[in-house]
Amino acid sequence: YLNKLLAKRKASYAAIDEHVDESTQIIGIGIIMYLQNPSDITVKFNVKKGSGSTVIFCVERLAQRFKSESLNIRACIPTSFQATQLILEAGLPLAELNAHPVIDVAFDGADEIDPSLNCIKGGGGCHLQEKLVAAAAKKFVIVADYNKDSPALGTKWTKGIPVEVIPMAYVTIQNKIKTLKGKSALRMGAPAKAGPAVTDSGNLILDVFMSNLKGDNAVLETSQILKMIPGVVETGLFVGMAGWAYIGLEDGWVFNQI
Ligand code: 5RP
Repeated sequence: YLNKLLAKRKASYAAIDEHVDESTQIIGIGIIMYLQNPSDITVKFNVKKGSGSTVIFCVERLAQRFKSESLNIRACIPTSFQATQLILEAGLPLAELNAHPVIDVAFDGADEIDPSLNCIKGGGGCHLQEKLVAAAAKKFVIVADYNKDSPALGTKWTKGIPVEVIPMAYVTIQNKIKTLKGKSALRMGAPAKAGPAVTDSGNLILDVFMSNLKGDNAVLETSQILKMIPGVVETGLFVGMAGWAYIGLEDGWVFNQI
């Protein structure tokens, strides 16, 4: 597990160092969970998979460089409440997307990445904000560990495509998915008996299983079909959005670019 954390850290540092310079002013930060002391790797043993644990290291590196170099970062745009807190604690300038609708570069993790850098995101349920920030970014950079690198979406991430839905229609949407030969499960909170997981926007999440996500066309088609169902707010399929993926390996990092 330590190797995986070190891999994430290496990939994150490489991504920040290659994509942030004096010309970078507005940065998107995708994190949904973090620990109190990002500089102490030992405490990171508590970070769970699918929680945005990778991008914590991006903030760690960004904060180091912000303090020691003459960077011109004017705003960091968070994708969740937790990202907001981390940006503040790291001493980075916080701002909202509407104030800075064009982002120079956004950094985010992923649950799975295919060879075209299409991704499944939303293991932590923040894919709506994450997609809004990614779509506003001139460059969208994914940082992940070796477990996320996959030949086809759905191969390694077997928990389904996270789909954020309007609460009043979740059963209708589940029925519609059945007619499309898919399956879905309402994501429950923790503990499950407390009820369903609720997103930052007050919606519910369906984890959706559709067959065949192999190849760009299949991924795009699935994303479009799901998006067309009334009540679907956003899916965790990020198609053609990422331009770079930094995958941390046990012994270093590799760099991929479309
Ligand atoms: C949350 C996400 C995360 O980026 C994804 O779950 C990756 O998390 P981690 O870096 O902890 O593996 O999409 O909605």
